[in-house]
Amino acid sequence: MPMNEVARYAVFGNPIRHSKSPQIHAEFARQCEQSLQYRAVFVEMGLFSETARRFFEHGGQGINVTVPFKREAWEFAEVLSERARRAGAVNTLSLAADGKILGDNTDGIGLVRDMVANLGWTIRDNCVLLLGAGGAARGIVELLLRESPRCLQIVNRTSSRAEELATAFADLGPVSGGAYETLDGTRFDLVINATSASLGGELPPLPASLLTERSCCYDMMYAPEPTIFMRWAAQNTAWAVADGLGMLVEQAAESFYIWRGLRPQTGTVVAELRASMGGS
Ligand code: ATR
Repeated sequence: MPMNEVARYAVFGNPIRHSKSPQIHAEFARQCEQSLQYRAVFVEMGLFSETARRFFEHGGQGINVTVPFKREAWEFAEVLSERARRAGAVNTLSLAADGKILGDNTDGIGLVRDMVANLGWTIRDNCVLLLGAGGAARGIVELLLRESPRCLQIVNRTSSRAEELATAFADLGPVSGGAYETLDGTRFDLVINATSASLGGELPPLPASLLTERSCCYDMMYAPEPTIFMRWAAQNTAWAVADGLGMLVEQAAESFYIWRGLRPQTGTVVAELRASMGGS
């Protein structure tokens, strides 16, 4: 990049209007005294590679990738980190010194940091239940297993997808996959909702006996009001309940670190976002 030119970054998605990433990265840049520009780019379906290539050709330094392009970004990257390769999805693209486009995935580390460092929850030696086996779930399985849970059970409406996902990561720890019906009579310390059910105001079919008074429940979605899954958890004696706003900020912080080599403070950014979202 020529001297004195402001480094340019962007988030690519469709839709993108409600993305909080520009606000988050502007705050990180201010905190870390970095001069950079970060904008949200609406990308037409089918035009991801073309738009990303043009962005890098015109001096762009890095791209965050959100729904529905994480798989296309995985295909677009010339070099993949190990965690991105296994996740089958890329949310952070960056331009290396040799001109190659690197693909990484910071979703898993974002989730684990939020649960363990921010919320103080424990994964190690605990039994973890992951709801869903789509792209969002796949992106976090490796990082969850690296925290050494006693078990990781994946359940999905289409149970074969849960079984396949478990098989793909079985070398990393005690993970198994199946259908929601297998949950009858079981209890978990930690339940993570990685389905998109909350978006449609739906709840996966969970037995009321799933939680103990020590269980923690995390919805990777976030909204001004608690999601339907969070309300279910609170009504079923969960010890603690959280949404995915902290994960959003933590995955962004890890991207910022990849790009700028600096770690911003995340707590104040989460608090500001929460305040700006309103809700009761
Ligand atoms: P994402 O990238 O957000 O994970 P996805 O790959 O389309 O999107 O996956 C959506 C996930 O939410 C899947 O696990 C899906 O279950 P199926 O694989 O059986 O489709 C799950 N899901 C969506 N709506 C759901 C609902 N109402 N109840 C339970 N699971 C649901």
